[in-house]
Amino acid sequence: MAFDQHGGGDPATHETHFGFSSVRLEDKQARVDDVFHKVASRYDIMNDIMSMGLHRVWKDVLVGMARPATGRPFHHLDVAGGTGDVAFRIARAGGPSTRVTVLDINADMLAVGRERAEKLGVAGLDFVEANAEALPFPDKTFDAYTIAFGIRNVPRVETALKEAYRTLKRGGRFLCLEFSRVDVPALGRLYDAYSFTAIPAIGKVVAGDGAPYRYLVESIRKFPDAETFRDMIAEAGFGRASFTRLTGGVVAIHTGWKL
Ligand SMILES: C[S@@+](CC[C@H](N)C(=O)[O-])C[C@H]1O[C@@H](n2cnc3c(N)ncnc32)[C@H](O)[C@@H]1O
Repeated sequence: MAFDQHGGGDPATHETHFGFSSVRLEDKQARVDDVFHKVASRYDIMNDIMSMGLHRVWKDVLVGMARPATGRPFHHLDVAGGTGDVAFRIARAGGPSTRVTVLDINADMLAVGRERAEKLGVAGLDFVEANAEALPFPDKTFDAYTIAFGIRNVPRVETALKEAYRTLKRGGRFLCLEFSRVDVPALGRLYDAYSFTAIPAIGKVVAGDGAPYRYLVESIRKFPDAETFRDMIAEAGFGRASFTRLTGGVVAIHTGWKL
């Protein structure tokens, strides 16, 4: 099956998308990195403004589903962890032997995360600069894997899913929070108008540049629908692949188990 139907890249043509533009598969990551270098220092405030605070609720739901163990050692990997929002929640929900590895390809995003962790006094974290497509860990290292608003930025989605599977222990859980397709027509029209007009405009005023936010909105539209992405998770080897839509389908949480 052609990768591009899945929102990844097509190995035959070596083409994929960067927002609504077509780019060479090997060029996408550099363009994504450029977006996050530009937005790193304003990332958290923009998240609050753009989602009207909803991203906090979605992340709380994600961590509620991840349920880190409290009475035994638990090693959690948060991929595309950026400024640490999900990792901090996991660390707080876990017990004294919970360890959370925050992995991101972008040093600027991780630097903001480290600084925030220090300020907030969150312990039990490791920060690792690496690519979701080539995780620098042995097989069967982690009890759980999360990726929030990260997978649609990864050029080779299937490769990242295989890496998630490889590095999870048997019985480990994969959880992905990502924008999805709004399934309430009236909300869809409002959401489109808000995304394509208001978000780049807010980006311009608050962060001084609308272009990175145009990419963020366009990349949401290019990401596969929930059913297709669930099938991709199953194809990577995960059992009981399923999803839960939140906020009328604005986002979905996908999960699967390494059985
Ligand atoms: C929208 S941010 C999400 C950050 C955080 N998870 C959150 O929910 O606030 C996307 C993150 O994905 C990271 N990213 C993009 N491509 C990646 C890759 N191939 N491997 C690891 N991280 C990647 C970016 O650097 C960025 O920090």
